[in-house]
Amino acid sequence: MTRLEGKTALITGAARGIGEAIARRFAAEGAMVWVTDIDPAGAAVAKAIGGRFALLDVRDEAAWDRVMAQVGALDILVNNAGITGFEGPPAAHDPEHASLADWRAVHAVNLDGTFLGCRAAIRAMRRRCSEGGKGSIINISSRSGIVGIPAAAAYASSKAAVRNHTKSVALWCASQGLAIRCNSIHPAAILTPMWDPMLGTTPEEREAATRAFVADTPLRRFGTADEVAAMAAYLASDESAYVTGSEFHIDGGILAGSAASPE
Ligand SMILES: NC(=O)c1ccc[n+]([C@@H]2O[C@H](COP(=O)([O-])OP(=O)(O)OC[C@H]3O[C@@H](n4cnc5c(N)ncnc54)[C@H](O)[C@@H]3O)[C@@H](O)[C@H]2O)c1
Repeated sequence: MTRLEGKTALITGAARGIGEAIARRFAAEGAMVWVTDIDPAGAAVAKAIGGRFALLDVRDEAAWDRVMAQVGALDILVNNAGITGFEGPPAAHDPEHASLADWRAVHAVNLDGTFLGCRAAIRAMRRRCSEGGKGSIINISSRSGIVGIPAAAAYASSKAAVRNHTKSVALWCASQGLAIRCNSIHPAAILTPMWDPMLGTTPEEREAATRAFVADTPLRRFGTADEVAAMAAYLASDESAYVTGSEFHIDGGILAGSAASPE
């Protein structure tokens, strides 16, 4: 469990959910972890794992500059912070009724945030590479970046763009002769607080909604944040040294077939 010994990692949106699980796993693997988030609760996560915390709104270009100046040398970046659009007051997110403001708000976090993170990491890792170092950038996309999601069109569009930008970053770094890899992870149905607005409030509502959500998942359950963290640890480590520009699904088999079952 020390595959990341001697490496420094920064994870965005790491105060809870998948980001928190990745932070805990990376620390257990020996990395020095920067837990970043807009939620100050990330400070407690950092304390628990012997890492450091920085407030970082991934949409904010100047904040990236400030945080990267504090971090210095960087080996691993996980662009994990993301929103669905359903966090705020109820609003339509389909292609016919969504507002431009809501569309842009989702892209600002998921896509602009990932662009700014990749750019900051390439600049920091380039310096490291000149001393023989290696970099790994991991972008958390989604199954929704592969298929259309009519009720969450901005989320799907932003995650599709993250998938594609990952490949541009991977090819750019390779063309520059840099040992910086970039890959995307595509989770689906991972039980985290992100699901709270979609599962209802009472235990009965949550149980019924959970059953309905996994009905078409071949493995018939939600995934866990720790299962995503295990995949991220592989991509962060030198074990994946020949892997770049690739996409990794972790979805209980959803994308293996079609929910339009022949039965
Ligand atoms: N949970 C799933 O089923 C699932 C499926 C596919 C993809 N994902 C992706 O995984 C990532 C993590 O999801 P999660 O389920 O852990 O979500 P979550 O809502 O539990 O956690 C997201 C974290 O991001 C932070 N955040 C939000 N806006 C931010 C900003 N502007 N700057 C910095 N931090 C910000 C939040 O404060 C929160 O701590 C997201 O990119 C999400 O789209 C999740």
